[in-house]
Amino acid sequence: MKKLLILLLMCMTLIPASGKESQERWHHNKYSMFIHFGLYSELGGVWEGKPITRGYSEQIQSFAGIFSDWYGDTALRFNPTLFHADSIVALAKKAGMRSIIFTTKHHDGFCMFKTATTDYNSYDATPGKRDFVKELAEACKRGGINFGMYFSLIDWHFPQAYPISSHNCDFITPQHHEFTKQQVTELLTNYGPISELWFDMGSNTPQQSQELYELVHKLQPDCMVSGRLGNDRYDFAVMADNAYPEGALQTAWQSAASMFNETWSYRSWQERGDVHTKAMEKLRSLINVVSHGGNFLLNIGPKGDGSVVPFEKEVLTEIGAWLEKNGEAIYDTDASPFREQYEWGAITRKENTLYLILSGKYPLHGEIILNTPGFKLKEAKGNYTHISQKKGNLHITVPQTAYNNTDIEVLSLDMDVTTPIAATHEYVPNYSYSCFDYYSNYRSTVSYEWEIPNRNTQLELTYTPQEIGKELVITNPTGNEQRITLDGAKASPLKVNPKTKWGKRYLCGPGSSLFDAPSTINISLDKTPVRNGQWKETNEEKMMFPANILETYFVMQEVESPVAQDVLVDVGAGNGIEVYLNGRSVMKHLNPYRCKFREEKVLLHLQKGLNQIVLRLYNRFEKETGYLLRPSDKQIVYKQRYTYTVSEEDKKQPAIKLQIKQNNLPTQHTDTELHNLTVRIK
Ligand code: GLC
Repeated sequence: MKKLLILLLMCMTLIPASGKESQERWHHNKYSMFIHFGLYSELGGVWEGKPITRGYSEQIQSFAGIFSDWYGDTALRFNPTLFHADSIVALAKKAGMRSIIFTTKHHDGFCMFKTATTDYNSYDATPGKRDFVKELAEACKRGGINFGMYFSLIDWHFPQAYPISSHNCDFITPQHHEFTKQQVTELLTNYGPISELWFDMGSNTPQQSQELYELVHKLQPDCMVSGRLGNDRYDFAVMADNAYPEGALQTAWQSAASMFNETWSYRSWQERGDVHTKAMEKLRSLINVVSHGGNFLLNIGPKGDGSVVPFEKEVLTEIGAWLEKNGEAIYDTDASPFREQYEWGAITRKENTLYLILSGKYPLHGEIILNTPGFKLKEAKGNYTHISQKKGNLHITVPQTAYNNTDIEVLSLDMDVTTPIAATHEYVPNYSYSCFDYYSNYRSTVSYEWEIPNRNTQLELTYTPQEIGKELVITNPTGNEQRITLDGAKASPLKVNPKTKWGKRYLCGPGSSLFDAPSTINISLDKTPVRNGQWKETNEEKMMFPANILETYFVMQEVESPVAQDVLVDVGAGNGIEVYLNGRSVMKHLNPYRCKFREEKVLLHLQKGLNQIVLRLYNRFEKETGYLLRPSDKQIVYKQRYTYTVSEEDKKQPAIKLQIKQNNLPTQHTDTELHNLTVRIK
């Protein structure tokens, strides 16, 4: 019997966890250490005696304009005798971090591992003959924490790659792609299990991304791939540097943060300030990320001699002490089950326990009011003076002492879960993250959800000519899946009020290189949305004009509407488009890869009085871009009835949560483009 058990245990360790399991494990890690360490650490942000203030210090070669042979000579003196992998692992563990992600190769192309692909590596080119990847991989194994790898998809040293550019998001030549594959193969073959491969920068074609994604999974099925591989081939999405999404996402995701936004690698002249303030700032970021279901990756930049900067060590230790006490509210938790954002702090959840983390501002009269549909309070623990639940609202009074400057407190509430979690009666969007590359990524709307009673229910779908022929899938947690084709059978004209007045149209740009942007904007003619631009009046409904890559333009149009009404509008843009109505984003998506121009329709719900329509046009790949903005010729929508038939399983639920999306989208992160669809219970 004992033998059988041992055999069984042995087998279990040999069987690789399924993709889903590794995803779960990764998701529950929550907090990890990022390390930027390479030749640039030796320079510490200084070239020829001068601090290089432009750009990140790990990119000093490009920002200081250093010849490649001179930069490469740094290797001759790069001898980090104080780099002790075991002490770094010990620090990560003390800090409460569950894995370490190390820069195996940054943009400079210098490999921090022994490789057969180039002698531009730490083993062959430095006096110490060291393989830092090996040292860390082994130390992580000894210390029992995960090891992951950062890998730059651009390479300033490989002769057949694109030369240094201002944006680091260059295309990848076929030879460079092959070179990357060889290096990735070495990395995933020689260093044991790798928890994540953190690809960065460059701009792969969809095929290149696909090939690398498959290669990683062929070599190590459980290795999680970062979203910066591009083209939605990923296991976890990565936000832009030091950025946080506006809410929870329906995908695994991570925010990477540096100690100071200005650099990732060591910078000798960095003003660091006070340890406690920094620790609290980063702890708040960790809480914010985790309460939205993400993982937090906090970076350190060791010095050229390999030692960790004492300031960074102290910050990590302070956060670690907080986690030691309150880790229950962070590790293995899920996002808050509620969509609201709170000024008083944030919520995380583990099964039937809600953790209220008091990381925000002291609430008015010390009272936190929390709408908790589906949750009934059983027991509360923590620093509160009074708690009660009335009609689904929790009222918690906390003393001023719960918000002191030196600590962040946690209340834990044990709850009974009564109805489906986070029940919503409205038709609300669910988000994922979709990307071509570092600049061209955004929070995509992948489905909508709402709740219906647990019986056959008639739904009315309203949509525009653009949606005709699309197939929709409706799913629910019981597995009941139904499909509807939008047949356009019943037209219903929109009666646009003839007194509706389209005002002047203005164009402004070029601006920001990022496609992602907040979902609300504040635009006016006396304030331009880009740094050096001016609003220019334009009479054209449609226009194409020359543009550089990675440029954004804005079009603004005012519409005076005598009544609140729906109007169908034709819009168009190049590689990506966002439409705002009265300051709020109503539609946003990247267009298919390398699509020069795309026209589409958007149904706008105008308010009575003055309305403002804004288009944000995004150019990633082309030499010209353009816009289209005009009321559609045919003002028409379609209405279609559909009876949602419940299954036996559905009938057992108190209510049914439905999700709707377009069928057969290229990836699970692709925007469902159903912004014109509304679904009502009849
Ligand atoms: C950016 C930078 C790079 C840095 C990385 C970390 O992509 O180009 O220098 O390593 O962000 O998130």
